[in-house]
Amino acid sequence: MSHLLLTVRDAGVRRGRRDILNHVTVNLLGGEFVAVLGPSGSGKSTLIKALIGLVRLSTGHVLVNGKAQSAHAWQGRLGYVPQDDIVHTGLIVTQALRYAADLRLPKGEHQAVRDTVLRQLGLWDHRHQRISTLSGGQRKRVSLAMELLSDPELLMLDEPTSGLDPALEASMMRLLASLAAKGMLVVATTHAMASLAAASRILVVHGGHIVYDGPPATLCSYFGVPTAEAVFGQLKSHSPVEWFNRFNRVGGRRGIVGS
Ligand SMILES: Nc1ncnc2c1ncn2[C@@H]1O[C@H](COP(=O)(O)OP(=O)(O)OP(=O)(O)O)[C@@H](O)[C@H]1O
Ligand SMILES: [Mg+2]
Repeated sequence: MSHLLLTVRDAGVRRGRRDILNHVTVNLLGGEFVAVLGPSGSGKSTLIKALIGLVRLSTGHVLVNGKAQSAHAWQGRLGYVPQDDIVHTGLIVTQALRYAADLRLPKGEHQAVRDTVLRQLGLWDHRHQRISTLSGGQRKRVSLAMELLSDPELLMLDEPTSGLDPALEASMMRLLASLAAKGMLVVATTHAMASLAAASRILVVHGGHIVYDGPPATLCSYFGVPTAEAVFGQLKSHSPVEWFNRFNRVGGRRGIVGS
């Protein structure tokens, strides 16, 4: 698998008179598992969508392996699991996967790939169930299963751990780490604070600014708090712009926070 490089330079998104994403500058590489954290409404979903061209940028640009981003650039290389389920709930799990595979895979390769993905996501015992009867967490995993069928280079997930119990949350984070270990670039927004160590890199978004970009191990010390949960409270002590300025002062945009 060739290694993907996503280059984001000074990306901003404006809605009405509000800038909901500001001055985002990051390089993301195949093989990384990037967890995106931040309070509700801070701009995590907007960041995910900006990275894959689902929202128009008001400033800056995103390059995919050095080339301007376009639907064409992503053809067959992107898996995206949005925050809200888009799975057709009237279908049986195996039916949904078969339809998804028909769209994404050459004929004849389906069965084995589908079975592997079902097992990988712990959905094997639910494969004959109608999607409307699955729990929220199981439905989320069906959405992910559909995206994994085509073995994408970039996997974007918006809150893949919401609705999961702590054990499933930890196993979802481990699964995402294992996909990244195979070369995939995995970017996931999450509130799974207990499992952050599974990620190789953390981005904290606050008021539309990236205010931390570094390894999980130095997250707490950077914010001067004892636990990852406490980061959220600490963010309130200064404005997003103040946190952003501090991030830049310590060289965050050159990727040296925590190193
Ligand atoms: N299309 C839009 N028009 C106007 N405002 C928007 C639009 N989309 C997002 N916003 C606003 O931008 C901000 C960031 O939204 P976003 O969905 O990115 O937040 P989030 O961090 O993903 O939140 P959550 O954790 O609740 O999912 C919010 O204040 C939201 O109300
Ligand atoms: Mg969101």
